[in-house]
Amino acid sequence: MIQVMGAEPLAGEIWVQGSKNAVLPVMAAAILHSGVSVIENVPKIQDVTCMMGILSSLGCEVTLEGRTLRINAAKLSGYEIERKDMGQMRSSMMLVGPLLARFGRAVAFAPGGCSIGKRPVDLHLSALRCLGARVVEMDGRMEFEAEGLEGGNISFPYPSVGATENAVMAAVFAKGRTRILGCAREPEIVELCRFLRHMGARIFGEGTSLIEIEGGGKFRDTQYRIAGDRIVAGSYLAAVLCTGGEICVRGVEAGQLQAVLAVLEQLGAKIFALPDGVALAMKGRPRGSLFVKTAPYPAFPTDMQSLLLAVFARAEGENRIEETVFEGRFQAARELKKFGAYIQIEGNCVTVRGRARLRGAVVEAPDLRGGAALVLAALAAEGRSEIHAYEHIARGYASICEDLQGLGAKIRLSE
Ligand code: EPZ
Repeated sequence: MIQVMGAEPLAGEIWVQGSKNAVLPVMAAAILHSGVSVIENVPKIQDVTCMMGILSSLGCEVTLEGRTLRINAAKLSGYEIERKDMGQMRSSMMLVGPLLARFGRAVAFAPGGCSIGKRPVDLHLSALRCLGARVVEMDGRMEFEAEGLEGGNISFPYPSVGATENAVMAAVFAKGRTRILGCAREPEIVELCRFLRHMGARIFGEGTSLIEIEGGGKFRDTQYRIAGDRIVAGSYLAAVLCTGGEICVRGVEAGQLQAVLAVLEQLGAKIFALPDGVALAMKGRPRGSLFVKTAPYPAFPTDMQSLLLAVFARAEGENRIEETVFEGRFQAARELKKFGAYIQIEGNCVTVRGRARLRGAVVEAPDLRGGAALVLAALAAEGRSEIHAYEHIARGYASICEDLQGLGAKIRLSE
């Protein structure tokens, strides 16, 4: 559990970890090449450990030294992602495209819902079918087959990040040209495409709604450095709105946080974009009467929704958030009430009337970003707080306690 003595201002500089949502698809893409991929700036988080375990179970040689991961996929031998692994980490679904590309076969299990929503995989299946895959589903088990993937036209009705990643990774192997319309534009998609291009793939248009791929390329050993985690950076910047103070977050591109920084500025923060990060200063309480809507990139990211709720819990005035990406992502709102803020949930909207003096509370992390939001509320609250179920937070934050301690917070991890 995490223990916090709150209401201390934050100050200092921090280098942010590598991006969880970039490194996971890059690790999956490494199996497309029957050789060695070296990935640098890998965050020490539970999801990376889990993905390493899955790759090893499929026959890859995987070693992590410090923050450098080496994957040798020459001896890849399996194509079935075990049910327990899909249950532990839904994003292992993104291995299906690369396995189908390498073996012409893949087996996975419908990951099932989680604390933020149902999370179906229908867009993954329809995209892979467009490239010639056949899919048989039985009791949640999905068997994929393709004699040889053929390039084709994919049109997404919704810009799913994971489905875009699966489509791109299958298409780089497919014979001929693939056009992916309506694809996700997140920075993590751009990173995946850059990594694949380093490996020898021919990809155009990443970061826009149309990606075109000339498949069937020869791949080569590659070395790639993962960019900083924009959501972890956004989490620490939001923390300063909860406590006051001034920090500098390095190792992240300010341009990837535009929608988040615009909201934090409207709440009273002073923000400076740096060549390699963001500086932010905050005096007094956040104030505003905002209505923020989450949506796919470049709009305000759903992964920052819970963190913004924590900021609203301390803000003057009444603020609202509408969550349009996941249907069940308000678990943190229920826990945040225990700190004393007035929070009302109606459907996929939350209204928050903040309190100048939040009080310490004992709470439980409901999921990864919800857990981080509870840490921020504890930093803002007076007195002592406990945040239980730390394992949720450890999935995506490599060192949240050390990082915040380094910025002056009275926070520690205890058994
Ligand atoms: C990725 O999840 C991220 N995870 C999530 O981050 C992030 O919240 C999400 O993208 C949106 O930005 C990783 O990158 C590992 P989606 P993903 O497919 O790919 C629906 C975190 O906290 N949908 O864009 O699963 C889905 O139900 C995590 O770091 C379908 O309907 O997100 C959801 O409502 C949480 N059918 C919406 O689309 C499908 O086949 C967005 O999902 C796929 C998705």
